[in-house]
Amino acid sequence: MEVVITDAATIGSLVADRVQALLERKPDAVLGLATGSSPLRVYDDLAARVQNGSMSFSGAHAFTLDEYVGLPEGDPRSYRSVIDVELVSRVDFAPGAVHGPDGTAADLDAACIDYERRIAAAGGIDLQILGIGTTGHIAFNEPSSSLASRTRVKTLIAQTRRDNARFFDGDVDAVPKHCLTQGLGTILDSRHAIVIATGSAKAAAVRQMVEGSVSARWPCTALQLHPKATVYLDEASAAELELTEYYREVVEHRSAVQ
Ligand code: GLP
Repeated sequence: MEVVITDAATIGSLVADRVQALLERKPDAVLGLATGSSPLRVYDDLAARVQNGSMSFSGAHAFTLDEYVGLPEGDPRSYRSVIDVELVSRVDFAPGAVHGPDGTAADLDAACIDYERRIAAAGGIDLQILGIGTTGHIAFNEPSSSLASRTRVKTLIAQTRRDNARFFDGDVDAVPKHCLTQGLGTILDSRHAIVIATGSAKAAAVRQMVEGSVSARWPCTALQLHPKATVYLDEASAAELELTEYYREVVEHRSAVQ
């Protein structure tokens, strides 16, 4: 796991650089897109690059990580609507190139199987962008998630529903109890996983993700099993790490040998 500690604005441009480099090398790359506040600077940066003509998503495909169950199609709080507003409407994906799990499906289990099938048919995810929840979730894989899990229905833990109540006028009871989420096994299949975490509320989960024991108690620790994971942190989210000096040294000297 590569750990990069810098400021939030720099994280935005560094991750956008990674996306741009991938699309230059592989214009038909498959991206994994997270919702939430963590990737917003990345999406702003990418939108600016597309608008000034320096990059294009026209050949790319994308899959979102998760979705609430029970919100009607087009509900502005659905993750599908959020990703449309935050990124898709501001860049130049081809029509139909961005996919999300269907939280309105009559048969949710079938929708999850179909989502895995669609990811596989696209050739798998080249670059997965992730945030991290205060519970240690990635996507909506809450504590107790199988480290081998695939896309499935999950029940949200109370802390996540409290965290996300800000998107539901502060009303925790309005936050859906269930969701569809890519599994930890699905995320581990991505060719490169990038996690973005900022702010002190994420410090405990970041400590576990980078330095804790691999355990379903902290689902983010599954990323220690990923062959290529890069974690971008600001100082506040990195505050509980033990080995920060080493991580800075690695980044400072990596160009000498890599
Ligand atoms: C949400 C989403 C995750 C997201 C995480 C962190 O509930 N399901 O995909 O990465 O929690 O959200 P934020 O980036 O807003 O802190």
